[in-house]
Amino acid sequence: TTSTMGITRVSNIRKIHMANYEIDTWYISPYPEEYSRHRILCICEFCLKYMSSDYVAQRHALKCQYRHPPGTEIYRHEGNSIFEVDGAKSPLYCQNLCLMAKLFLDSKTLYYDVEPFMFYVLTENDDKGCHFVGYFSKQKVASATTPPVAPAITDSPGSSTSHETISTTDPITNGSAHDGTNGTATTATSSSAPAEPIPAVRNNVSCIVTLPTAQRKGYGNFLIDFSYLLTRCEKTVGTPEKPLSDLGLASYTNYWKHTLCYELRKLRNSADPATEISIDTISQTTGMTLDDVVFGLETLGFLVQTPQKSYTLQIDDRVLDDIIAKWESKNYRRVHPEKLLWVPLT
Ligand code: ACO
Ligand code: ZN
Repeated sequence: TTSTMGITRVSNIRKIHMANYEIDTWYISPYPEEYSRHRILCICEFCLKYMSSDYVAQRHALKCQYRHPPGTEIYRHEGNSIFEVDGAKSPLYCQNLCLMAKLFLDSKTLYYDVEPFMFYVLTENDDKGCHFVGYFSKQKVASATTPPVAPAITDSPGSSTSHETISTTDPITNGSAHDGTNGTATTATSSSAPAEPIPAVRNNVSCIVTLPTAQRKGYGNFLIDFSYLLTRCEKTVGTPEKPLSDLGLASYTNYWKHTLCYELRKLRNSADPATEISIDTISQTTGMTLDDVVFGLETLGFLVQTPQKSYTLQIDDRVLDDIIAKWESKNYRRVHPEKLLWVPLT
């Protein structure tokens, strides 16, 4: 039972019947009352229409014209596609999608006001059609906030465990790095005078869901990676809308960790060993916000605070290699950026 502004809503829905699956629901979703009365809600896997009985669903299946989500197919590779669905152009589909997603989302989400959002729907394809696996939504025009200024990190070339120092006190006066613990820190990134304008920060994901039947197979990670690919095409940086659910935080933390490991390894192996590692650079090449980069580095244990209240970046190559090897051993499908057919709206 959920209570909104004094109205108590009761829902009996415990399962959804979709394609050949009966899926246990996790939370209450505000389906119209006549549908909430049923224990099992039937959902068409192609148009996401909700129906009160198998009989109605079977009749619908005979005449449903959809074999894939509406909108534009912007990615197709190895049996998976991603469709970009405009909330303004396909409001009914997107409302059905939001209502279904709410069955697995604890936090308040939108259901009917879908126009300001784009929906990126991931499918598994076969000769019968493109079957829904998961999605994320993204606000079309988000209010941009002025991003914080990156603390500077300096790289210590040549050492397997490097000690890089960043200052995180006052971003305005932060123009020089403190010396690292091993005394090999070189020049600092002067973050107050960046070479290129720092892009605006926006939410690159509003809500993200993988159907429970498809979870823990790497699809959530695939969707997250795809959201950052779009963000990089937009030449900006992005972060998921808060609050994150526990599962959202687990998935994002995992993504940030291995993405940072790949990026750090790339920077360490770059032609010029003196290449400076700065949070700005990592943020711009990954599309992650400065805060998320710092959070990821801290989670990896690579960011260590010194008594002088500055931070030292200590990259342990063994940890880095272990995380990458462990991730690759899962053999989850990866996003192939060259398969994306998409240009940003603005
Ligand atoms: N427990 C622990 N770690 C997890 C879990 C879990 N249940 N789910 C994901 N992770 C971490 C793991 O490291 C996992 O790798 P592993 O499975 O090899 O251990 C890694 O994330 C990648 O998991 P995926 O298989 O890619 O993720 P999945 O397809 O299961 O989708 C998602 C993750 C979308 C969060 C899914 O759990 C879901 O739909 N949950 C319900 C809705 C929700 O909470 N969405 C996020 C809300 S926050 C927001 O929308 C911005
Ligand atoms: Zn249908």
